[in-house]
Amino acid sequence: MKFHDIELPNEKNTTPNIPKQVFLLALILIVLTIIPLCLNNDSQSPLPSPKINTNDLKSIESEEKCDVFSGKWVPFSQGPYYTNETCDLIIDQQNCMKFGRPNTEFLNWRWKPDECELPLFDAVQFLELVRGKSIAFVGDSVGRNQMQSLLCLLVGVVHPEDITLNYTSDTTNFKRWFYADYNFTLATLWSPFLVKASDADPSGHSYNSIMNLYLDRVDEAWAAEITIFDYVIFSAGQWFFRPLMFYENDELVGCYKCQQENITELTQYYGYRKAFRTAFRTILSLKDYKGVTFLRTFSPAHFENGDWNKGGNCVRTKPFTKEELRVEQYIMEMYLTQMEEQRAATKEGRKRGLEFRLLDTTEAMLLRPDGHPNHYGHSQDKNITIADCVHWCLPGPIDTWNEFLLYILMEGQLTLGRKLQKND
Ligand SMILES: *[C@@H]1O[C@H](CO)[C@@H](O)[C@H](O)[C@H]1NC(C)=O
Ligand SMILES: *[C@@H]1O[C@H](CO)[C@@H](O)[C@H](O)[C@H]1NC(C)=O
Ligand SMILES: *[C@@H]1O[C@H](CO)[C@@H](O)[C@H](O)[C@H]1NC(C)=O
Ligand SMILES: *[C@@H]1O[C@H](CO)[C@@H](O)[C@H](O)[C@H]1NC(C)=O
Ligand SMILES: *[C@@H]1O[C@H](CO)[C@@H](O)[C@H](O)[C@H]1NC(C)=O
Repeated sequence: MKFHDIELPNEKNTTPNIPKQVFLLALILIVLTIIPLCLNNDSQSPLPSPKINTNDLKSIESEEKCDVFSGKWVPFSQGPYYTNETCDLIIDQQNCMKFGRPNTEFLNWRWKPDECELPLFDAVQFLELVRGKSIAFVGDSVGRNQMQSLLCLLVGVVHPEDITLNYTSDTTNFKRWFYADYNFTLATLWSPFLVKASDADPSGHSYNSIMNLYLDRVDEAWAAEITIFDYVIFSAGQWFFRPLMFYENDELVGCYKCQQENITELTQYYGYRKAFRTAFRTILSLKDYKGVTFLRTFSPAHFENGDWNKGGNCVRTKPFTKEELRVEQYIMEMYLTQMEEQRAATKEGRKRGLEFRLLDTTEAMLLRPDGHPNHYGHSQDKNITIADCVHWCLPGPIDTWNEFLLYILMEGQLTLGRKLQKND
């Protein structure tokens, strides 16, 4: 990710006691050291698959070292893969066209990596690659958003069976879909903090109510289910900005935005780092887990004209150009925090033969202030006076995340192809 090409702005979220140049320099150093590691972690891929399409392999092989996550959005006249008419699985929260979004220009863009092409999503190819396998999206509703996108990308080929009730009665937060023809299971496991959490607000749960986070205790809602999955995609972000009480060893160690003078004030990054650390360590400690673990990197919100709870919205109709982009420093810190934890996990994973991969979507999505539902996503239990500048419309730029996913699954297959050749 080439964040160092991007200017850091003067924003209210900047950390006061770090001079900007020092921060930027540190950032460049960190990013430069991270990138080679991210590119080299495909050495022992357990990503097998029955059918290998050699043409596709060749096209990826020639671009093997391409960083697909760095690039720009270019006009694309073919439009989206599906519509709200061809995909009947779009939930109202993300069905922007149904609720009257007046402009469609946001649908006519495609991600163009600087160094290569990102292949179009091919549903049949994807399904062949995941035949007999399972994918779990673990984390928050943005992860669920990606799963919804994947459902729609596949729906033209095959309609899944909803088997949620075979596993749980909480059909809003947990979902399982089964593709019988491919023996492929897709699941979403709700765990917005990845670690154990509970409400701490005397007046109950609301958008901004304070919560307890047990940073060294994993959320069993996903951990107890995860060993059977072949691919696990973690997603966490916006929930860490609410007021939080942090516990470790069952003791209060501090808080974020709790406004209690006798409690140590910690940052949201503190909680974010520890949550990922606990999640990755849990994965690494599960004897029977053999899956590939993805970190889908921080997904930026784009509130303008006010904060999210003060009338802020996201009314843009076009992507930012790189010149227009101003990256707020808190986004950089969230991103770098999770990247550091991912990097540590990748290293540990190698010792255990467990693969960690990145879906490094942050740069692409920073450029898409036009991709959110704003006021054109409806949800019965949500306060619709608040604009949604966090999730992404379907169809929309989030479909690109699954192009990335397919690309990486193809890469894994490529590694296998090479191994097979060596064994010949
Ligand atoms: C799809 O969007 C159109 C507007 O583009 C709307 O009229 C229609 O009701 C929507 N259909 C569904 C099934 O969401
Ligand atoms: C379906 O896939 C599961 C693993 O996800 C495997 O255990 C099972 O044997 C497969 N069933 C068939 C009929 O291939
Ligand atoms: C789900 O449960 C139903 C009814 O109990 C059963 O017929 C079906 O085979 C189950 N499906 C899967 C994929 O486990
Ligand atoms: C902080 O002070 C409040 C009242 O001022 C008290 O209720 C609370 O228990 C104190 N918390 C800690 C951790 O000491
Ligand atoms: C919805 O949010 C707005 C803005 O925060 C608030 O003024 C209003 O009371 C909320 N309405 C409900 C029903 O929660």
